[in-house]
Parts: sequence; structure tokens; C-alpha cells
Amino acid sequence: MKKVKLGVLVSGRGSNLQAIIDNIEEGRLSAEIALVISDQPDAFSLERARKHNIPAVHVSAKGYKGRREEYDALLVKELQKHDVELVCLAGFMRIITPVLLKAFPQRILNIHPALLPSFPGLHVQMAALKHGVKFSGCTVHFVDENMDTGPIIIQAVVPVLDNDTEDSLSARILEQEHKIYSRAIQLYAEGKLRIEGRRVFTSGGGDQNGVLTNP
Ligand code: GAR
Repeated sequence: MKKVKLGVLVSGRGSNLQAIIDNIEEGRLSAEIALVISDQPDAFSLERARKHNIPAVHVSAKGYKGRREEYDALLVKELQKHDVELVCLAGFMRIITPVLLKAFPQRILNIHPALLPSFPGLHVQMAALKHGVKFSGCTVHFVDENMDTGPIIIQAVVPVLDNDTEDSLSARILEQEHKIYSRAIQLYAEGKLRIEGRRVFTSGGGDQNGVLTNP
């Protein structure tokens, strides 16, 4: 099967990146990471990539305040240089602009640590705890022009326990993130994702891309 060429954008520790690398190396994902880009010079993600001989670059956002389109044009150039087909945001803490969206139409995915459309934005595990929800989880979605609003591909649900802290809930969610991101990429690689309006269908029909987990 053809391997889809990924460009993974990161800002930090890169545990989602690592899960994608591991799934590729263990033959569970028909993909190849063509390039990792970090907006942070010291992101641990860069080290993770290099350890696996994956090209990894820091594209500095210094001097691009208020010029986000120009920064995104730099990203597009790098991604195209490496023949990237699918862009995966994996803890990339920047808002992307139409420049990137137009270069990769319906070819940018994001992972978010909450059940969208609840709790978009940042520090969402804490927000879920404070709100008192009984379940939270994570979402893989196509990226559109607004933050955390694009068509949803897969979600996984985890319980919120009475004694949860931000850390314990985040860890429970992260374990699921590591599974569903690769699953969504694999569905893309197999050409199985079909977007109709806000809804994403898996061709072949009948598949249920909600994942319920037990504590
Ligand atoms: C993950 O929990 C991811 O869902 C979140 O950042 C973390 C990155 O962890 N992303 C967002 O909050 C995007 N709004 P990682 O660097 O270990 O993959």
C-alpha cells in the first residue's frame, strides 16, 4: 500500500509524534514522516524525530508577530519541499492561517484533548475538571479556518473520576490520543475518509469512529 507522506507540526514534548513514529515502525500505519517542524527551538519533539532519522527543523516565529501569514508561508515552503501530502498538528501551539489551509485543503489534521465542540482552546483538561463533566476525551478533526472547529474524524471518551487532578485526567486522555491519531491517519491513508459538510464518513459504511474506554 502507498505510504502517505506526513508533515508533523509540533511545539513541545511530542508524545503524539512518538506514537505515530512507533505505529509506523511497527507496521500499523501506512505512512512515512517526511518532515517534523517545530516553532520552538528546544522542543523535545525535534530530538525524538532525529533519533529516528526523520528530518526535523525549527522554523522560528521570531519577528513574525502580527504576520502569521508570512510565517505560514515559510511552513508551506518547507512542507512542499519534502513532498508532504498530509499535515498533522501534534501539540502545535499556534493558530494557522488560510495560507497553510489553502496549500493543504482538507489535508490538515489536529488532535485536541477534549470532546469537541466542548472545551476548545487551551488548558482544556483543567477546564473540563472545573466544569464538572463526568466524561471527557479527545478528538481528531480536520482543521478549518477557526480554532478547533473542523469536521470531526474520531473521538475517544474517558471517564472523569472523583479524585482526578489535571495531571491524572490528562494522562488518561493522552493514552487515547496516542491511539486515535494514528487510526485517523490510517483511515486517511486508505482513502476512506469522506467529508460531507460537518460530517466525516468512513467509506465502507457502518464504521463507528467513537471510542468508549473504561477507567
Ligand atoms: C496533547 O495533549 C494535544 O492534544 C494538545 O497538546 C498536547 C501535546 O502533547 N494539543 C492541544 O491542546 C492543541 N490545542 P504532545 O506534545 O506530548 O503530543
